[in-house]
Amino acid sequence: MWLNNAMTSIKISFTESHLQPLAEQLGRSLVLPVINAQEVDNMCRAAASAQENPGFLLEFDLHGLSLLPVKRKQHGPIRCEFDSGANTHRRKFGGGNGQAIAKAVGVSGKFSPRVVDLTAGLGGDAFVLASLGCEMTLLERNPIVHSLLRDGLDRAIAAGADDSELAQIMSRVSLIEQDSKSYLSHLAPENYADIIYLDPMFPERKKSAKAKKEMQAFHGIVGADDDAAGLLELALERAHFRVVVKRSASAEHLGGIAPTYSLEGKSTRFDIFALNKLPT
Ligand SMILES: C[S@@+](CC[C@H](N)C(=O)[O-])C[C@H]1O[C@@H](n2cnc3c(N)ncnc32)[C@H](O)[C@@H]1O
Repeated sequence: MWLNNAMTSIKISFTESHLQPLAEQLGRSLVLPVINAQEVDNMCRAAASAQENPGFLLEFDLHGLSLLPVKRKQHGPIRCEFDSGANTHRRKFGGGNGQAIAKAVGVSGKFSPRVVDLTAGLGGDAFVLASLGCEMTLLERNPIVHSLLRDGLDRAIAAGADDSELAQIMSRVSLIEQDSKSYLSHLAPENYADIIYLDPMFPERKKSAKAKKEMQAFHGIVGADDDAAGLLELALERAHFRVVVKRSASAEHLGGIAPTYSLEGKSTRFDIFALNKLPT
């Protein structure tokens, strides 16, 4: 398991009694304590006036699993939502294959690649690519992030019962809890990906007030992905057509390795390492 110090300040809670077994199951697998609603109340009340950061709750409620600050006013819940909100809006009105991520990966009417996303996070990019027809294998090593993503994917799979388009998208997504370096190291040549996608944590912004509070909290849980350059080197040997690295617009090339070309956006840049011509 990929842990950092943030794990020590996380507890698991549930808002309805029928969610307790789910909370206890997660508590056992993450080796984290489970607390009841009364204990949550006491903790939040004490936290309101505390100076130090009292940590986070991984909470099951009627909408699924979310990560919440114990100091409630710090920021809202962090949750994966694939069947509503921004992800649904982008799926329906986001610009299809005209989006920068689609161009970077090379998805087109003629080519729906098999993509391995080495840094799944909360699954936003992978969901966009799956919506455009890509077969997605997602890897996530952080157990907290993996739990949030697994829960979001499971809810989207369930919502697919009433939405056949969503069901098709979800049938193209699989998630593995593993470090990508170890996954790639053991990958047999017949399973090499068409495209490998990599979006390591951006370096912490100097003007951190600009980053959304939720993003800052996510950063605190995940830490910096300092080993991402090694991942790129391995990825370049395991992809048939391309490796795509997402960076913040002003970031240096990952590992100092120059890409074949880049697609520049306002805040984000895609560095494309072209290995072979895409099928037409
Ligand atoms: C910036 S986030 C990715 C965000 C994602 N593209 C999205 O749309 O939500 C980076 C994620 O990659 C994960 N990660 C970084 N290095 C990894 C590795 N070697 N193996 C697996 N997961 C990794 C981190 O735990 C973190 O959750």
